[in-house]
Amino acid sequence: MFASSQKNGDVMTWTVPKIKALKGEQKIATLTAYDALSAHYADEAGIPLILVGDSLANTILGYETTLPVTMDEMVHHTAAVVRGVKEGLVVADMPFMSYQGTLEHAIENAGRFIKEAGADAVKIEGGAMRAELVGTLVANGIPVLGHIGLTPQSVKELGGFKMQGKTEEAARKLMDDAQALEQAGAFAMVLECVPAELAQNITASLKIPTIGIGAGPHCDGQILVFTDVLGMGHGHVPGFVKKFADLKPQIQAALSSYKQDVEQGGFPS
Ligand code: KIV
Repeated sequence: MFASSQKNGDVMTWTVPKIKALKGEQKIATLTAYDALSAHYADEAGIPLILVGDSLANTILGYETTLPVTMDEMVHHTAAVVRGVKEGLVVADMPFMSYQGTLEHAIENAGRFIKEAGADAVKIEGGAMRAELVGTLVANGIPVLGHIGLTPQSVKELGGFKMQGKTEEAARKLMDDAQALEQAGAFAMVLECVPAELAQNITASLKIPTIGIGAGPHCDGQILVFTDVLGMGHGHVPGFVKKFADLKPQIQAALSSYKQDVEQGGFPS
C-alpha cells in the first residue's frame, strides 16, 4: 500500500523554503501522524506539514504523558510516517532528554531522525535557552521547528498544562524567545497555549511562520493531534480542539457488531 507512495522526485514535495514562503500567503494546516497509515491519510488530504509528535507517547503508546517516550520509539514511528508520505514535510519531535544534555548528544539524536528515519526536520521545545542548539543544527543542515509557550516536556516545572504568557513579563519573555529562535535559524515555530493577542503580536513580529495550538486564530498555521481531529482519542481532549469527525462511537459500534456476528454465526455467512 505505501511502497507506491514513498517520497520520490516525481511529485511535488513540500520543502522548508516552500513552507516558509506560505507566511502571509496561505494558512498552514499541520497535523500529527504516528505511523504509515495516519501519515498516508494526512498526506492524501494535502496537509503540507506533518509532525511525528512526542504525543505518540500518550495518544498511541499508552503512556500517561509525553515524558517516557524514547529516541528508539520516536525513530521507529518517524520512519513509518516517512514511508506513508509522498508530499508532506515530515518533522520529528525530539523526545524528552534527547537534547537537554550536551550539544553533541543533541546533534547525534537529531541526526538519527534524518539519517535513520528519513525525516525532513526536527522539533525542539524551548526558546532562547535552545538558540545555540538550533543554530548548530541548522548550520549542519538539520532544519528546526521551534516550540514555545506551553512546552509539555517541562510540565513538571510549569506545574501543569496551563496557558502561558499571561503576565506582561511572561509575554515579553515569550516574545524574546520567539525572536531568539528566528535569529538562530528555526524555519517556523509552534506557539502552544498562549493568549490570542500575544500570538498575534509574535506572529506579526516574525518573518517565519507561527503554527498555533490553543493560541487563537492569528497564527500563520494551526496544528492538531490526529486522533483529536477525528474524534477517536480515548483520553482528555483540550477545550480548544475541534473534532472534524466523531469516529470513536462508529469504530466501537463496528467492532461490537463484528464480535456479535462472529459469536452468533452471522459472519462468515
Ligand atoms: O507532540 C505533539 O503532538 C506536539 C504538538 C501538539 C505541537 O508537540
